[in-house]
Amino acid sequence: MIQVYFQLCLPVQQRPPTPPMPTPSITDLTEEVRSQFKAKFGTDPEVVVAAPGRVNLIGEHIDYCDGFVLPMAIDRYTIVAAKKTAADAPGTAEVYSIDMDDTLTVPLDKIEKGDRGFWGNYVTGVLAGMAEQCPEIPPLQAVTRSNVPIGGGLSSSASLEVAVGTMVEAITDTPIDPVTKGLVCQKAEHEFVGVPCGIMDQFASVLCKKDHVLLLDCRDQSFEQIPFTNPDIAVLIINSEVKHELSGGEYAQRRSSCEKATRILEVDSFRDLTMDQVTAKRDSMDPVVFKRAKHVVGEIARTTDAAAALKADKWDKVGELMYASHNSLRDDFEVSCKELDMLVELASNTEGVIGSRMTGGGFGGCTVTLVEGDKAAAASESICNQYEQATGVKPTAFVTRPSQGAHRVV
Ligand code: GLA
Repeated sequence: MIQVYFQLCLPVQQRPPTPPMPTPSITDLTEEVRSQFKAKFGTDPEVVVAAPGRVNLIGEHIDYCDGFVLPMAIDRYTIVAAKKTAADAPGTAEVYSIDMDDTLTVPLDKIEKGDRGFWGNYVTGVLAGMAEQCPEIPPLQAVTRSNVPIGGGLSSSASLEVAVGTMVEAITDTPIDPVTKGLVCQKAEHEFVGVPCGIMDQFASVLCKKDHVLLLDCRDQSFEQIPFTNPDIAVLIINSEVKHELSGGEYAQRRSSCEKATRILEVDSFRDLTMDQVTAKRDSMDPVVFKRAKHVVGEIARTTDAAAALKADKWDKVGELMYASHNSLRDDFEVSCKELDMLVELASNTEGVIGSRMTGGGFGGCTVTLVEGDKAAAASESICNQYEQATGVKPTAFVTRPSQGAHRVV
C-alpha cells in the first residue's frame, strides 16, 4: 500500500515499472472467499463452488445462428461460498461480492429484476431460474469473488451465473442436468440483464472438461469433448484492454441481421444453407445483411473443419482457419476493432505462432493465439511490447490450458 502510494506520488516517467499482479490459483481464491465469508458472517461456509470463464478457439457469433462453436474452459474462475441460515423460509439470499464490495439481498418469495446492468441482476436472474428447478431455495448467505477478467470477452458474466446456479444445486442437494443449468443461466442473462446472448458461454462454463475442447452443436445442443493434451501447443490469451460491452446494441443488431438473412433466404436455419445459395441471392439482399450471412455460413464450415483438424493433430490447419475466422469477423461481421486487428497482425509475424484471432463478442476484449509451447513466453512478450509501443496501452497476457467446468470445491 505504502509502496503504491509512493509510486503514485512520482511523475509518470520516474515511476518504477509495476510488477505484474500474480493471479491467484483456484485454491488461493477459495481460501480468500472462505476467510471473507467467516469475517462477514461469523461462520464457515457449507459449500464452495467454482465456475470458469472460457475462451472460444473458433466459431464466433454463430451460436445464435444454429452453428458450431469450439470453446474451452480457462483456468480463471468465479467462486461462490454459501451457507443456509437459521431464518424461517422463504427468507432472503444475501450475497456479498468481494470484487464489487457490494451486498445484494434478494427476498426469496419475490425474486425480481432490479436496475439493468447491476451485477446483482446476474445473481437474481439465476436464483429466479433455479427456484423453478429446485424444491425450495433456503434462506442463505453467500460470498463471491472472480479472477475472470471483466469485459475481456472471456465470459466473466457466464461464470458468475453458472457459479450461482451450481451453488444453489449444492446447497439444496438437487443435481440439475447440465444443459438445463446452462439454459437457466442464459435465460437470466436475457431476461434480467437484457443481453440476447447465445448458449456458448453458459454451456462452456457448465460442460467443459479439463484437457478437452467442447465441440457444441448449437442447433440441437449436442456436444462432443475433443481431447487437447498436446504439450507442445500453448493457448495464449492477450487482453487488448479495450473494454467490450455486449448490452450496447451492436450484438442485438448482429442477431437481427442474421434473422433477416434467413427470412430472405427462405430457410429456417443457417445449417440448411451453402455458400453458393447465399451468393446466388446476393442481389436481393442489403449488402450488410449479405456480409453477415456470408460470415455465418463460412464460420460454420471453418469450425467443423477446425474440429476435424484438431482431432487429427493438424495444428497448422487449425491456425489457418483461425486467421480466416478473424478476417471474416473483421470484414464481414464487423465486430473487431483496430486494437484486436493489431494484436492478430503482430501475432501472425511472431515466431512460433500457429494461429490467432479475436475471441468472444468482440469490439475489444481478447485475442486467442495458438503458439508452440516453448516459444509462448517469448511470443507473448514480443507481441505485448509492440502493442504497447504502438498504442501506449499495456496489454495483459496469460497462457492457459483447457480446464475443468463448473464443480463443487468443498
Ligand atoms: C458473446 C455471447 C455468446 C456468443 C459470443 C460470440 O460471448 O454471450 O453467446 O454469441 O458473444 O461468439
